[in-house]
Amino acid sequence: MSVSTSRESIKNTVKAAADIAQVIGEVVELKRSGNRLAGLCPFHNEKTPSFSVNPQGQFFHCFGCGEHGDVFAFVMKYHRMDFPEALKFLAQKYGIELEERQLTEAEKLQLRRREALYEANEAAAVVYQQCLRHPKLGKVARTYLEQRGVPDEVAERYRLGCAPDPEQAGWSWLADQLLTKGLSRETLVLAGLAVGKERGGHYDRFRSRVMFPLADMTGRVVAFGGRMLGDGKPKYLNSPESPIFEKSRLLFGLHPHREAIRRQRRALVVEGNFDLLSLAVHGIDNAVAPLGTALTREHIRALRGYGDEAILLFDADAAGLKAAMRSIPHFLAEQVEGRVALLPAGHDPDSYVRAEGPEAIATLMAAARPLAEFAFDALVRTHGLTLTGKNKIVAELKELIKDSTQPEQRALMVAHFSEKLGMSPGYFQSGPPAAGRSLPPRNETPIAEGLARLPAQERHLVEFVILYPEYFDELLRVGLMDAVREPAARRLVDLMTRMDDTGARQPEQLLAHVADTEDRAYIVQVLTRGLPYEPGQEQAREMCDVLVRWVRSTLHKQASAELQEEIRRAESLGNKGLLMELIGRKQEMEQKKKGYPI
Ligand code: UTP
Ligand code: MN
Repeated sequence: MSVSTSRESIKNTVKAAADIAQVIGEVVELKRSGNRLAGLCPFHNEKTPSFSVNPQGQFFHCFGCGEHGDVFAFVMKYHRMDFPEALKFLAQKYGIELEERQLTEAEKLQLRRREALYEANEAAAVVYQQCLRHPKLGKVARTYLEQRGVPDEVAERYRLGCAPDPEQAGWSWLADQLLTKGLSRETLVLAGLAVGKERGGHYDRFRSRVMFPLADMTGRVVAFGGRMLGDGKPKYLNSPESPIFEKSRLLFGLHPHREAIRRQRRALVVEGNFDLLSLAVHGIDNAVAPLGTALTREHIRALRGYGDEAILLFDADAAGLKAAMRSIPHFLAEQVEGRVALLPAGHDPDSYVRAEGPEAIATLMAAARPLAEFAFDALVRTHGLTLTGKNKIVAELKELIKDSTQPEQRALMVAHFSEKLGMSPGYFQSGPPAAGRSLPPRNETPIAEGLARLPAQERHLVEFVILYPEYFDELLRVGLMDAVREPAARRLVDLMTRMDDTGARQPEQLLAHVADTEDRAYIVQVLTRGLPYEPGQEQAREMCDVLVRWVRSTLHKQASAELQEEIRRAESLGNKGLLMELIGRKQEMEQKKKGYPI
């Protein structure tokens, strides 16, 4: 059998055994709808479910972002695996034996390397755990955990361990044990468990520390965090990044807490590993902690699979504020509700829950404030609302949004804060103000009736011009302005006609001039739902053609109804001359209509 056929056949066997609804259902909350299952798409930002799983056909499809495929495609994309890994992952899950010769040489090598890393980390976790239970080697760590209020069963639940004092156990205590288990020196170095010496030999990276195993989304140990026993630097040491560990994606606690987060639809973000442990000791089991870094967009995205709200539980110090500010664009982009709860000065979640109990944390959480509001108030407190103060606030906000790659994300921030400051959104633009006609002040163009409530056809049209402003002029030429009837849609079209097409119709500008908060939210939602196809491509062109036909047909129906009404009036008045003329016009109109297909 050739490699490719045997590979096809194993793929088919695994595919037949794997249940796509089960595999996806483990990471996405799915609800039955007819003979499909629906949920929030894990691959793009959305608040209403457009992600659908078809158990009969064994495929998934997202109507929002277009992502689709079979169970392999899902596992590869969601768990960021390559094909051989996904195959192996599913085969193991469904008890199917895989023969390695079904993979190419390069695939085998890659798979083995990653597997060796998982194996090394798992073996190290076991050895560290044993060490914590060891009468002599684990004594200092056990006492330390006891002092910090962590009982044995909590240590067990999080698989805590310890790395012993090298004076007592030697400098390559872990590495030597793992080498005897058959792991290679390169693997240990690549995993960051051992550090190679220049002149050969190696020593353990982690010594005299409480060890926290860090699990990925599937529960495999991919790295460690180590807390120094007693004083010494650095206080916390993490594994270096490796092919299986990316620091900016991983949240400590997400795997063990995923069910609790899903149940409560909410995660609690804390800064430290011990904050998370202490909260768990007091029954609060939905905390996660980034690994000593600021929250990234990847972190928020990882949370989004489980809950739709995250509360940041921060110290009231300047660093906490800065961290909260920095995370705003990520929350906006991922459409996760971010809130902030501040701890009294001098406390972290660990010290606070130990001093005041879990009820005090619950009280803080209930009073948590929306992130953007919190940040704005903090800025006002720092700078004041004098003209100079406002300018400083704008400067800080500009700094905050300048790195955001997503225009809609920036747009939302600008819209939000310019309104609060009572300043023109133009102040937030980094370059010189856009050339062209000056626009009316935003309060002259309220769209009160709501874009979100438009009838389907007009909503479709509005969404299209928001996403593809480059087709706007074409639609205008065939009579767009007269075809839309709903006030909300008319105002938006009117607003866009008054913007020139040198970029001023881009989402940022548009958002800045739409006054109604709901309409802005709607526009942002349209923008963040992602583009079903790239502008300028065939499908957008086709869509535009469909809309052109709709505009024409709508105008035709309107004109024809008006004429019909005039005919009825002429008839009732007995005005034969007028009647003949009107009927003639009607025929002409029907004739003309044949010129373009509807
Ligand atoms: P903190 O310095 O606030 O410590 O670091 P903490 O959590 O209160 O630590 P304890 O209570 O003294 O044990 C917060 C987090 O920042 C990361 C760690 O993830 C830590 O939990 N950190 C801190 C590092 O990565 N390296 C460090 O040297 C210090
Ligand atoms: Mn602490």
